[in-house]
Amino acid sequence: MRHLMMTQDELKRAVGWSALKYIKPDTIIGVGTGSTVAHFIDALATIKDQIIGTVSSSKASTEKLNYYNIPVLDCNDVDCVDIYIDGADEINHHLQMIKGGGAALTREKIVAALAKKFVCIIDESKVVDMLGEFPLPIEVIPMARSYVARELFKLGGKPIYRQGVITDNGNVILDIHDLTINEPLELEKRINNITGVVTVGLFADRKADIALIGTSSGIKEIKLE
Ligand code: A5P
Repeated sequence: MRHLMMTQDELKRAVGWSALKYIKPDTIIGVGTGSTVAHFIDALATIKDQIIGTVSSSKASTEKLNYYNIPVLDCNDVDCVDIYIDGADEINHHLQMIKGGGAALTREKIVAALAKKFVCIIDESKVVDMLGEFPLPIEVIPMARSYVARELFKLGGKPIYRQGVITDNGNVILDIHDLTINEPLELEKRINNITGVVTVGLFADRKADIALIGTSSGIKEIKLE
């Protein structure tokens, strides 16, 4: 059967386009970052005249939105975002996520915080029982890098400096490998509390409300009530 042979990018495309059904006329859309979101932006371009505009979570997404002449609003000029569409690196069954594989975690968390509803679009490979196999990204103020790494080491993981990557905010990324994440909410608070940490890529407090999952047998939807 043809659908059994879908590549990961075909699944990302299918789920990116399926998010269009959540876009209502005359609303402001939060736009995440990554290859799945890139497909969503392609889809959004087809209805761009129906929306008020977007708030973007990265320079890369802004560039793509500009390419399509989709209005990008300043985050400081909006009170809230009606819906936020973004991908994830891992998502569990409570719709808590690890994000930041593309280093956009801080702006993503800001737009997510502004959003009334967060729809996470992922292919089925991202769904896990327990978060943590994907290295957990942390955005850090550059001068605090070594201090934060030592503090993270105490949590039981192995922080690795993401060489050559500077975030849109001028900071660096540490990825924690081999971390057991039993209590995502607690860990999120704990890491955010380390001096020099800008943001941890754990989205447990502001988790997704809806997950759209691209699978080889179609789009699956999980909704938290
Ligand atoms: C960007 O920093 C991440 O949070 C992305 O949302 C995540 O890496 C998903 O990316 P893909 O859609 O490219 O897999």
